Amino acid sequence: MNIQAIAQSVREVAGDVLIVAAARKAGETTITLSPLAASVDQLLDGLISQRSADGEFKGSSGELFTIHPLGRLAVKRVIVVGLGKQETISTQSLRRASAIATRHAQNTGAHDVTLALQWKNSTINSAQAIQAQAEGALLGLYTFKKYQHGEQNGNGREVSQLRILTEGLESADVEQAIHRGQILAEATNFARDLVNEPPRVLTPTELANRANAMAGQFGLECDIFDKEKIAELQMGGLLGVAQGSAEPPKFIILRYRGMPQSDNKGLAFVGKGITFDSGGISIKPAAGMDEMKGDMGGAAAVIGAMQAIAALKPAINVTALIPTSENMPSGTAYHPGDILRIMNGKTIEIINTDAEGRLILADALSYAVKEGLSPIIDLATLTGGIVIALGDVMTGLFSNNETLTNEIIAAGRTVGEKYWPMPLDDEYSDLIRSDIADIKQTGGRSASSITAAKILENFVGDAKWAHLDIAGTSYVDSKKAHQEKGATGVGVRTLAELAERLAK
Ligand code: BES
Ligand code: MN
Ligand code: ZN
Repeated sequence: MNIQAIAQSVREVAGDVLIVAAARKAGETTITLSPLAASVDQLLDGLISQRSADGEFKGSSGELFTIHPLGRLAVKRVIVVGLGKQETISTQSLRRASAIATRHAQNTGAHDVTLALQWKNSTINSAQAIQAQAEGALLGLYTFKKYQHGEQNGNGREVSQLRILTEGLESADVEQAIHRGQILAEATNFARDLVNEPPRVLTPTELANRANAMAGQFGLECDIFDKEKIAELQMGGLLGVAQGSAEPPKFIILRYRGMPQSDNKGLAFVGKGITFDSGGISIKPAAGMDEMKGDMGGAAAVIGAMQAIAALKPAINVTALIPTSENMPSGTAYHPGDILRIMNGKTIEIINTDAEGRLILADALSYAVKEGLSPIIDLATLTGGIVIALGDVMTGLFSNNETLTNEIIAAGRTVGEKYWPMPLDDEYSDLIRSDIADIKQTGGRSASSITAAKILENFVGDAKWAHLDIAGTSYVDSKKAHQEKGATGVGVRTLAELAERLAK
């Protein structure tokens, strides 16, 4: 979508909806209006302040208040969106408020929306505020309706014109801020599309095709290894998981060279790409199994991040590695009791074929180490345990390096994604000791997210490494004010931000 910067007064703004912001003062009942909300209030003889004095609108985070100016402004409707406590307003407050209000505008028939949430404080400058509005709006407007018709498809009711009110700002900075927000949101939405596609459509082959098409469009190098090449490389984890499926596995490599002269190989992003996880022979219960089309959320995040990085062009080399397969039960499927040999030579005793993610990641991590890439960041919808521990709010972060941990948390904070550090204490290794192989595949119910991470740790050699378990954050099973049920695209913007930070 084309987002236009305009420098009009709020009275002149035309179209369907004008969005302005208000906040709450700690310990007080009165609201604080953004400068542009204050102008609207004035033009309407104090309507917003009066209504809030009556208690109709409190400025709480995500709260919406709709005004019909009945011809006193050029615009048809004004939506005031709450930013929550004034003292804690951040770029994330603006991004989220923009998403909620724009999404609401779209759901109530608006085509033409102008954002005027400008809010400056010590932690937000004008460029950041503009980027957050653009990014938030495009994230909030996202829908996945390609398989629906008529009313359910929204009857063509969608926002097709977005403007941002940017009075008194340098136009070059404004353009740049809008552009950045757009790059990050579009990359996130690309990842969401990959996750939301049905598994019959998005097979490992199709995932590879879409990654390849994106690479062609954005100028990335792309290599796709087929089953024969995977066998040649002795990726026994990926081959073992794939052997139960009629769909052949792929190993996707995307390369961005922002430092072509440097012999520093740069960083690796690794994404779990299980396009459907039935559990295999250790089959999952039927309830909720449809959501296992999203078991390639890590792969999608990594592919989306590479798109953003290709557009942002940081001075760093980045390689994405995506092992992709289905996990299916069949007469050719791998069994509990099998022993698989991973690319780096280590053997794993199979206990439960539903613990497939660690097996394909083990091969990809081994490959990253062989290529000399560091740091290595892997993203995976890896364990049900992390959903129990952190829900859909925070991503579990496991790392062998404290600096990297802090860099990821800080990058996440900038883009509005939350990470919580989890332990990799060596005492947990006792749970994954095998009697007949180098490692046992699962450690039982207790600390299951940690034992899964401990298995991955066996394959990262001396590299700096972080593992992000996004099983809880990659997919939401009910709709929210800022997004619909389904894929969130988590990780895309954190990885892009991290690449930019590491380039500095
Ligand atoms: N893909 C699942 C993990 C998952 C669960 C992702 C819920 C998203 C939502 C993974 O492959 C899996 O099945 N993990 C098992 C491992 C167990 C069998 C050791 C788990 O965590 O229950
Ligand atoms: Mn599984
Ligand atoms: Zn899985």
